[in-house]
Amino acid sequence: MSKSVDHFLDYLRKSPTPYHAVANIAETLETSGYSRLHESHSWPKLTTGKYYLTRNDSSLIAFKLSQSPAAEGFRLIGAHTDSPCLKIKPNAITVNNGYAKFGVEVYGGVLLNPWFDRDLALAGRVTVQTKAGAIDNFLINIDQPIAFIPSLAIHLDREVNENRSINKQKHLPAVICRTDKDSQNFETLLKKWLKQQHPELSPVKILAFELSLYDHQPPQLVGLNREFIASARLDNLLSCYAAVEALLNSNHRSNQVIALNDHEEVGSASTSGAKGSLLYSVLSRICTDNESLQRAISHSVLISADNAHGVHPNYPEVHEPAHQPLINNGPVIKINNNQRYATNSETAAVFKAVCDDNKVPYQVVVVRSDMGCGSTIGPITATRLGVRTVDVGVPQLGMHSIRELAGSKDVEYLVTALKGFFEMKKWPFHRASTTVAKPSMGA
Ligand code: CO
Repeated sequence: MSKSVDHFLDYLRKSPTPYHAVANIAETLETSGYSRLHESHSWPKLTTGKYYLTRNDSSLIAFKLSQSPAAEGFRLIGAHTDSPCLKIKPNAITVNNGYAKFGVEVYGGVLLNPWFDRDLALAGRVTVQTKAGAIDNFLINIDQPIAFIPSLAIHLDREVNENRSINKQKHLPAVICRTDKDSQNFETLLKKWLKQQHPELSPVKILAFELSLYDHQPPQLVGLNREFIASARLDNLLSCYAAVEALLNSNHRSNQVIALNDHEEVGSASTSGAKGSLLYSVLSRICTDNESLQRAISHSVLISADNAHGVHPNYPEVHEPAHQPLINNGPVIKINNNQRYATNSETAAVFKAVCDDNKVPYQVVVVRSDMGCGSTIGPITATRLGVRTVDVGVPQLGMHSIRELAGSKDVEYLVTALKGFFEMKKWPFHRASTTVAKPSMGA
């Protein structure tokens, strides 16, 4: 196993929620000499250096500056920190028929079947009021199999293999214990967990939480040749990981930005999502005036990295026959001329040139003409900023399952390609000019 894949599996395991995914990246950036910025502070004029900031603890932007953005532009990589999952409802515990259960809300496009009969753990953010009156957030990770969603036995539903349907309200609450009481207090449990994980906290009032269930089985390499990675959240922590590795390992003097947004799986419209103001706000503050910002954007390229569907060997008919990406054959460039993906010939060319220069194989995908197409943060960011964009991602199977499948070689390939993008020597979009263009007088 290469160090990179081993390292990635460790990151996945430690990142059961976007909050943890961001906290772990922030810690890595701190130890690599990145200075934390705060949106509420006044920023000095940033010309060179390494910085990062977070919003809502679940989105993160990190950047390295070494040249004038107005003249040289930014090299941007975007990815998303969230994954479809089951989130705990505010009044968390219900009791019926002698069992206490977590009520759950479905977050994003969850593939529900694989959530049954798995050992489920719990993690997320708890917002408390301290004794002094301050409101503060704390992350918790109950890394134990505390919940379970049992299937109904086949004897009680003979049709199950032909037509199973899942009622999200009735069938998904997760069993946590047997009880003879009528109710169970979640706050008592939460207080116990907070005390265990944050012993420094003095007694607090718990005001709210955002917690989700996750698969307790750790990520691992599977297959005869252990060439596959089986794990939750490969979409899209794999791309987040690759973006961070590319940023940390690139030595080239270009302006490099990674933007990792929450809420892609529910449409990106939030304060921390890609439809929100975060990236625009950071780039404007770096550029300080609108003219410089617009010039910078005109020299920039965004690689939007989000996993792609590899061809499924048991369902090849759902894939476009002439475009069948394979796991471990390199990143996939996603094309959709109806702009569900933002790739155009110019940006696809940039990505292909980077891959060729760095000996990374690549593939191209387009969906069948008789099927709908997914989308991602690429077109959203392209629209929001006006930045030329290419949508790419490693191929995977079982997208949005609690146990997805990707390729171990593809992690290396994506890291190498993204690093190569940051280090691309002949940047095709310089054409920097300090002269003011004469307005055209027309004919
Ligand atoms: Co995704």
